[in-house]
Amino acid sequence: MKTIFLTRRERFNAAHRMFRPEWDDAKNLEIFGKCSNPNWHGHNYTLFVTVKGELNPETGYVVNLKTLSKLINEVIIDKLDHKNINLEVDFMKGKIASSESIAISIWEQLEPHIKMMGIELHSIKLEETENNTIEYFG
Ligand code: NI
Repeated sequence: MKTIFLTRRERFNAAHRMFRPEWDDAKNLEIFGKCSNPNWHGHNYTLFVTVKGELNPETGYVVNLKTLSKLINEVIIDKLDHKNINLEVDFMKGKIASSESIAISIWEQLEPHIKMMGIELHSIKLEETENNTIEYFG
């Protein structure tokens, strides 16, 4: 059997604020800098979902990319795109809205669905800006 890694890119725009509610604005500013702005700010995020599976010799596919894209959109993108991550995203409730934390949550949301497709989730890569990218391998 031949194992193949396959990556689907999706994009979303969302607002967030880095802060701990138990800290005052001065302390939040000291720790999180501009990202703690009480009036929020946004990013154009790029999400890379990499899955791993065996090549199906009949189709030449590991997985149908249209099916994978539809899944990522239904489970993740529709919930994040044009939303406030701190206030409106169910799977981010009570969590810090850092890229690290968002990527881990995306993994947790997607992983069971990916498994049901007969493939494995390999990594979640989240690009917050051109310069800042984080990657999570579960
Ligand atoms: Ni930010």
